[in-house]
Amino acid sequence: MALESLHDLYVEELRDLYNAENQLLKALPKMARAASDPTLRAAFEEHLEVTRGQVDRLDRIFKRLGERATGKKCAAMEGLIEEGKEMMEEDAPPAVLDAALISAAQKVEHYEIASYGCVRTYARLHGYDDAAELLQETLDEEGEADKKLTELAESVINVEAEEEGEEEPAPRRKKAAAGRR
Ligand SMILES: [Fe+2]
Repeated sequence: MALESLHDLYVEELRDLYNAENQLLKALPKMARAASDPTLRAAFEEHLEVTRGQVDRLDRIFKRLGERATGKKCAAMEGLIEEGKEMMEEDAPPAVLDAALISAAQKVEHYEIASYGCVRTYARLHGYDDAAELLQETLDEEGEADKKLTELAESVINVEAEEEGEEEPAPRRKKAAAGRR
């Protein structure tokens, strides 16, 4: 699609977000299953519900615009999820894995916060007040989710991870002697 106006960009970015949220709907149950800490698991499950509501809001915005919601793949979300998946496949103690899950989830939140902030501003510039309000609601929810993840990281999880790491320090590998002088 050619981007000939700010309006085109607005629709394109909304489609990107629509795809990003749908990718996240598939990833969040897996993240919840991978979490060991019950509070973290509950936070992922709760965010799954919140994300469904966010997709509904986008649906309403597209309906009002008379545009279709699909047709764009969010490469950024795909990459963020892929990186999170790689972390989950690492051989790590549960607390370290939880910390890695929080880090992956916060990267997702920050991407969404940036994207929703932009489309909210575009909606305002076009005078789409209803859409701007809906997008602001989602932006606030993403901000809340991010704050909650920081709280989780600051409470039990990372400290436990550090303690477990200290029990078995990784052996320091000796540097191979240089072959040439
Ligand atoms: Fe979201």
